[in-house]
Amino acid sequence: MCGIVGYTGSAQAAPILLEGLSKLEYRGYDSAGIAVMGSKDISVVKVTGRIAGLCEKTDNGRTVEGCAGIGHTRWATHGAPTEENAHPHLSNDGRFAVVHNGIIENYQTLREELKEKGYHFDSETDTEVIVHLIEMYYHGDVKKALIQTVNRLQGSYALGVLCRDEPDRIYAAREASPLIIGLGVGENYFASDVTALVAYTRNAVYLDDGEFAELTRDGAAFFDCLGQPVKKSVSRITWDVQAAEKGGYDHFMLKEIMEQPGAVKAAISPRMKNNEVVFEELAITGNELAGIRKIVITACGSAYYAGCSGKYVLEALTHIPVEVVLASELRYSNPLIDNTTLLIVISQSGETADTIAALKECRARGARTLAIVNVVGSTIAKLADDTVYTWAGPEIAVATTKGFTTQLAVLYLLSLYFSRLLGIAGEDYAEHIRILKSLPRLIQQSIDMNHGLPKLAEKYHTANSLFFIGRNTDYAAALEGALKMKEISYLHAEAYAAGELKHGTIALIEEHTPVIALCCNRRIMEKTLSNIVEVKARGAEVLAVSYRDNTKILSVADDFIFIPEVADIFSAIVEIVPLQLLAYYVAKENGCDIDKPKNLAKSVTVE
Ligand code: F6R
Repeated sequence: MCGIVGYTGSAQAAPILLEGLSKLEYRGYDSAGIAVMGSKDISVVKVTGRIAGLCEKTDNGRTVEGCAGIGHTRWATHGAPTEENAHPHLSNDGRFAVVHNGIIENYQTLREELKEKGYHFDSETDTEVIVHLIEMYYHGDVKKALIQTVNRLQGSYALGVLCRDEPDRIYAAREASPLIIGLGVGENYFASDVTALVAYTRNAVYLDDGEFAELTRDGAAFFDCLGQPVKKSVSRITWDVQAAEKGGYDHFMLKEIMEQPGAVKAAISPRMKNNEVVFEELAITGNELAGIRKIVITACGSAYYAGCSGKYVLEALTHIPVEVVLASELRYSNPLIDNTTLLIVISQSGETADTIAALKECRARGARTLAIVNVVGSTIAKLADDTVYTWAGPEIAVATTKGFTTQLAVLYLLSLYFSRLLGIAGEDYAEHIRILKSLPRLIQQSIDMNHGLPKLAEKYHTANSLFFIGRNTDYAAALEGALKMKEISYLHAEAYAAGELKHGTIALIEEHTPVIALCCNRRIMEKTLSNIVEVKARGAEVLAVSYRDNTKILSVADDFIFIPEVADIFSAIVEIVPLQLLAYYVAKENGCDIDKPKNLAKSVTVE
């Protein structure tokens, strides 16, 4: 949540800051601001709303002079999205400007202390304490003041600091929030995410918790919380600029949906050699895996639903019991986890606060940890014993699509890989390999077979409430389908295990209530069919997701989404794609801001 950027060099800073912020807008988009070192003073410009407003106010940055600056795009936590609460915040003496991503948990105590000392506050934010602390501790040495300040902070932060006394220097610090330093020639940068840097440089340094960076146009120095220099390695950014552009699509979400055949291929292909699944990045051995009594999957939102889907495949192929637990629940549940547990955490961003906390909790209890992550160098990727990247490329739309399907692809691969490691791979191993290889093609077919979705969206977009039902793998896909619908179209949508409806919720089904019935798992298809008949009898309008040859469904349902034939355990990855598209077209019908739905942010770094 929130995105920060910083620049120092010989070019005008404001246009570069605005360009960087526009790439980070997915992280928060309720207000924004920049602070740039002018000839004498720091100029601050803020707006409520989007970066576009900031561009308009500053003529795309041209009216703000200066070659060093910091910027921020906000997702409000403390205080409403007003100009006062927008970052950057200035110290009372105007000497310092600060941008912050994260949450300062002890800000109230610090605020009282600073008020008693005579500092006045212009905002309701937790961040403002930081800039006043820096002013309080400053006696001519910014670095020292910054170190003393962060030593007083509890919580999470990625900070950017600008000081009037050091006009071409910017500082950055990190604790439990992402922060990447970009190294250019005659200019240097920082940003919350590589997408803001990739147009300028491919050389990145990933700050670790408790580390600081001091950037001038000619150099970057790194130090720890005692002010001691630290040596950092430079990583090469491999994502290209086009990956972070819309490429002719109306929305990032549509582009990312369409990218799924390629993204799933990128997740699967490097892990297939001679018709075997290989994971060169995994250290876990067959012996270690044989000692695992239970697998716990933890994650939030869609990543959690990927886990719900993965459970069926992991259990079927490894015979190890799998529990899937929401990270926000796991962290406070006193979990029964020890060194016989394999914890799998799933996160697109690798920065989700609850998932990080659950991972730390389970590590402390002795679990072996494996992370499935998209963003390279993210906190979760660094914390886990083993990390498997999903290689989905940058996902900009707030609602995840290719992030989700590549997580499924990795879970399928892991299931097969573990079955081999354990020596229990069945006769169907070769067949499973063949199916995994064909998934990119099947996903493409599933897109191509459903050109009628905009028409269906016209029919369903006025619904007050939609129900998504399914059993087993279909149920897991229904959970994700309903979430997609809710978050981007703002329609109430609920996923139900099809067999559970009759235990209460069926009372809500009335004449014309839309029911999206997922019916792609052939093993339990007949059972779901009975549930479809039950809702039809109560007047529901049924949109079935199934196969063309499913004549029984054809005779009961009102509308259809067809998918290509796929084995039951891998069907979720194919059936979710048209449901993503359905949500997209319904949201479009409803005139919603599809890439940046209200109240949401891409990277949820708060509890
Ligand atoms: C929904 C969505 C969220 C995320 C969740 C976890 O479309 O994107 O539900 O899946 O916030 O985020 P990550 O995967 O970054 O940990």
